[in-house]
Amino acid sequence: NDDAAAGSEGTSGDVAANSGCDAGEQVIKFSHVTNTDKHPKGIAANLLQERVNEEMNGRMCMEVYPNSMLYDDDKVLEAMLLGDVQMAAPSLSKFENYTTKLRIFNFPFLFDNIDAVDRFQASPAGQDLLNSMSDKGLKGLSFWHSGMKQLSADKPLLVPADARGLKFRVENSDVLVAVFDQLGANPQKMSFKEVYGALQTGVVDGQENSWSNIYGQKFFEVQDGITNTDHGVLDYMVVTSSRWWDGLDEQDRADLTRILKEVSQERNAAVNDLEAEARAAIEATGTVVRELTPEQREQWVTALRPVWERFTPDVGAATVKAAQDANK
Ligand code: LMR
Repeated sequence: NDDAAAGSEGTSGDVAANSGCDAGEQVIKFSHVTNTDKHPKGIAANLLQERVNEEMNGRMCMEVYPNSMLYDDDKVLEAMLLGDVQMAAPSLSKFENYTTKLRIFNFPFLFDNIDAVDRFQASPAGQDLLNSMSDKGLKGLSFWHSGMKQLSADKPLLVPADARGLKFRVENSDVLVAVFDQLGANPQKMSFKEVYGALQTGVVDGQENSWSNIYGQKFFEVQDGITNTDHGVLDYMVVTSSRWWDGLDEQDRADLTRILKEVSQERNAAVNDLEAEARAAIEATGTVVRELTPEQREQWVTALRPVWERFTPDVGAATVKAAQDANK
């Protein structure tokens, strides 16, 4: 698989390096939806591909398909259960059909920052969540970070009332629908690849996402600035099908586990810098980034707090407590 390994190192790389698997190598298709250049998930997936193809050459061969070129997040998990793709890293908001436990990650203003998210995910309560879909045949292997979410629309957003009546694109999560309902806004679930066009044509007025997605998808071009809200988290679970995973040769499974752990640690540690770079790149285009005063921020926190109560039964009070404890 030397070609595949070489391809993954290329920087032009939005096309999967998918032609280099040798006969006899077990192919691992890894499908995701973001860009690859300067994106936390894009970089992590390419690094995983590079290392698997170098260190497991002759045994396994990973092919990464970015940019929704193979599946979007609505389809990828079904495809995984059918055996058409072996790995993916959908955002934690995309598992609604498989578990309600991951809704914890969409509670507004729960985590202070990505370091708190990291501590929660490393805790026993967080690690348990990797197994929350085992009854559905999905196995969580690792968490990957993207970043804290920022808010934007076609008008300035400084207090909750500014969002009233506006249409916002949300990921496929009932918690996120509740968040925007709570603001008196109109949430619309929509797949990632459709968001730019929907913002551009006014199908929706606004959106929420990490700096790297707002930059990578150029959402800032079709919005009236971005408000630095850090009101939620956009993070990923690297998943596979339990059936495929359990069927692997023991040594292959051990090597994959080790490589994925090392890649996750390395790339998660780099995410704050990458997000800061994406924000700086957005500001360098002349896009306005608005900061909230403590009073304005408190208004958003207060307005959205009822969402916690509504979804706590889905995730369990102990999990909410563990997540809050991770802030210290
Ligand atoms: C989104 O749909 O906005 C994100 O989940 C995309 C991603 O994978 O970062």
